[in-house]
Amino acid sequence: VRWPRWPAPTALAAALAELRVNSGGAAYEVRVGPGLVQAVGRWVRERAGGARVLVVCDHNTVMVAGQRIADDSGAAILELEPGERTKSFEELRALCLAMADAGLERRSIVVAVGGGVVGDLTGTAAAIYLRGIRLVQVPTTLLAMVDSSIGGKVGVNLPAGKNLVGAFKAPEAVFADTGLLAGLPEREFRSGLAEVIKSGLIADAGLTAMLTDRREEVLARDAAVLEAVVARTCAVKVGVVNRDATEVGERAILNYGHTFGHALEAASGYAAGLTHGMAVAAGMAVAGRVGASVGVTPPEVVEVQQRQLEDYGLPQRAPVAVAAMDLLGALGRDKKAAAGRVRWVLLEAVGHATWGHEVPDEVVGEAVAWGLGGNPVI
Ligand SMILES: NC(=O)c1ccc[n+]([C@@H]2O[C@H](COP(=O)([O-])OP(=O)(O)OC[C@H]3O[C@@H](n4cnc5c(N)ncnc54)[C@H](O)[C@@H]3O)[C@@H](O)[C@H]2O)c1
Ligand SMILES: [Zn+2]
Repeated sequence: VRWPRWPAPTALAAALAELRVNSGGAAYEVRVGPGLVQAVGRWVRERAGGARVLVVCDHNTVMVAGQRIADDSGAAILELEPGERTKSFEELRALCLAMADAGLERRSIVVAVGGGVVGDLTGTAAAIYLRGIRLVQVPTTLLAMVDSSIGGKVGVNLPAGKNLVGAFKAPEAVFADTGLLAGLPEREFRSGLAEVIKSGLIADAGLTAMLTDRREEVLARDAAVLEAVVARTCAVKVGVVNRDATEVGERAILNYGHTFGHALEAASGYAAGLTHGMAVAAGMAVAGRVGASVGVTPPEVVEVQQRQLEDYGLPQRAPVAVAAMDLLGALGRDKKAAAGRVRWVLLEAVGHATWGHEVPDEVVGEAVAWGLGGNPVI
């Protein structure tokens, strides 16, 4: 997707408020804007055509939007425990049992109202219950709006690792109500911002410029600016996914910063103090260093990236103490998963990432040591 360098935020948001995902045989709309939640329940009720509806949320998102949507759609409601531990096989089973209890049938709609945890768990259940029932995603965190609710990847964790069991499950629609972000805890908001920053750097220089020009409004969660930022970030993901639904090529760029980031999360034992976004921020910094070392990323691009991380109070090195051996071990497991080689996503310019870079071990070793060397705080 190529968008013009950006006009006024509201005009831009209006232009982007409806994005169409068209990939892997699935087509659905991603709607972005404040106040959408008021219309979701009715929309679902009409679409369900008399079939039963189940709203799945957690103890936090029930008050944010879940109850409202359930009331408006006449749905049963299921409230989960918030947190990553809910994204488990046991909870998947429990959710399928609840779906049976609620009398869901093939035409039924299940509505996921929450962050990536609720979306991924509910999406997985929607993919396998009755070999697939209808799914609507109502993301309520910044990360879920710009990332996890789009693209159809759903999954749950196993003790052996994150997202090891899952499916591709396209929703019927995604409603990203940016008004819900007002009450999101600051930590979660910043975590989502890391993915927003990433999206600009890999595919939309105008978004990067917007984040620089409108920093204060973004951090103050100004409604119009937030709507524009979310819509534009969604557009990056929709564009990439439309061109590469099943992750054979370009979709890899979405993993920018995630090589080191995922290894850091794993090596820290998924420490409570480390959000995914913080890990990705540190991972982008490391990828910038790797890219500079191998001559792919120009120094001024690294500088833009570091400035953005700083501007948004995100870490530029690992914010938790992790042993280098543990981190390299986690990278090694990643390597196994990728059939022998870690392939890096690197920036060639602001707004342009390329994938599949093989990097000499000593360059990785140096960048990792650097990435673990400082512990600036959030
Ligand atoms: N499927 C994908 O493509 C994909 C992509 C990226 C991440 N993910 C997954 O997403 C998950 C992380 O998602 P997340 O960052 O949204 O975390 P989350 O779902 O754990 O939500 C974070 C916290 O915010 C609370 N919350 C949610 N919305 C709120 C609101 N509007 N106001 C106040 N509190 C609110 C939640 O209850 C929770 O406590 C991870 O499991 C990750 O693997 C999936
Ligand atoms: Zn991510």
